[in-house]
Amino acid sequence: MKIGNTNFRTIWVENNFDVKIIDQNFLPFSFVIKTLCTGDDAYIAIADMAVRGAPLIGVTAAYGVYLYAKSFLGANDFMEKLSVAVAHLQEARPTAVNLKWAVERQIKLFDNTKPQEFLVRELLANANKIAEEDIETNRAIGSIGLDLIEKIYDDKGIVNILTHCNAGWLATVDYGTATAPIYMAKEQGFDVNVWVDETRPRNQGSRLTAYELLNEDISHSVIADNTGGHLMQTGKVDMVIVGCDRVAANGDVCNKIGTYLKALAAFDNNIPFYVAAPTSTIDLNIKSGKDIPIEERHEDEVKYVAGFCGNKNVEILVSPKDSPATNYGFDITPARLITGLITEKGIIRPKEASISRIMGK
Ligand code: MRU
Repeated sequence: MKIGNTNFRTIWVENNFDVKIIDQNFLPFSFVIKTLCTGDDAYIAIADMAVRGAPLIGVTAAYGVYLYAKSFLGANDFMEKLSVAVAHLQEARPTAVNLKWAVERQIKLFDNTKPQEFLVRELLANANKIAEEDIETNRAIGSIGLDLIEKIYDDKGIVNILTHCNAGWLATVDYGTATAPIYMAKEQGFDVNVWVDETRPRNQGSRLTAYELLNEDISHSVIADNTGGHLMQTGKVDMVIVGCDRVAANGDVCNKIGTYLKALAAFDNNIPFYVAAPTSTIDLNIKSGKDIPIEERHEDEVKYVAGFCGNKNVEILVSPKDSPATNYGFDITPARLITGLITEKGIIRPKEASISRIMGK
């Protein structure tokens, strides 16, 4: 997608060798490109949220496995070193299942009988493949979700969509999941307007989603997290589309903290609540939402607000310095509050039977 007039992906490979990322911790104030030289660089980029969003975490981890393998080339205990490093990489963040999913796709290639250089090349090719598949998946989610927008547009002539956090192209390799139908609607000339939840504490909505929409010239408005309910009660929201970090076998969805409250408000106001869910986020090993690990992050993310002032990035204390704070990264939206899951294979009800059918089980 565009930044200014230039098309970017969030992660790419240069010279068939260097892995590049956009460091999202600087957005929207500065545009910083970073090179990931080692597997540890990939680990740190995920843990420190230079890259974030479930699909992008997965793709970065896939490149991380390649980078670890490359740095162990020539070691006698190459495979042992790689296995330890990869187990460590899987711990970089706990909630998005894509991390484990992508690393496991790489692990399937591990084989002691292969020459080391050959395996390294295979791991790079497989990471590239996972990245390309992510783009195709998001395109498919876009065109499937577009039908939902089109129906509302035919009735009303404009579609007001509320979204939470950033499930846009910055959370994937390109297009995004929740935003893919919005970008396609814009391309088709439908009038769309997006309510962007700021998404405290890290403000992925105001910092990243708003930045994306601005660069794509899509009508939007940043709202404080507490505003959605009022907008819904006053008829200003036609549908909600959010992303997800993990979908349990029973259709419960784990997404950025605060998603549940928006789902409750949407349910109370009869507003369709859709989750854009690539099948890579469906975890059939997890029966229901209560079993999904919820990330807890440092209290300073709540106590300080990061922003831009006097030409530099700053952090402002917004509570008494000595008050403790609690920082859960995600919450669970029960399946009963969800109208449908928009997957790359079609829209399904968040029910156990539909989910296992789409997963081919
Ligand atoms: O903590 P983050 O920024 O990684 O959380 C991101 C989200 O919650 C997204 O909604 C989710 O990963 C879906 S991204 C397509």
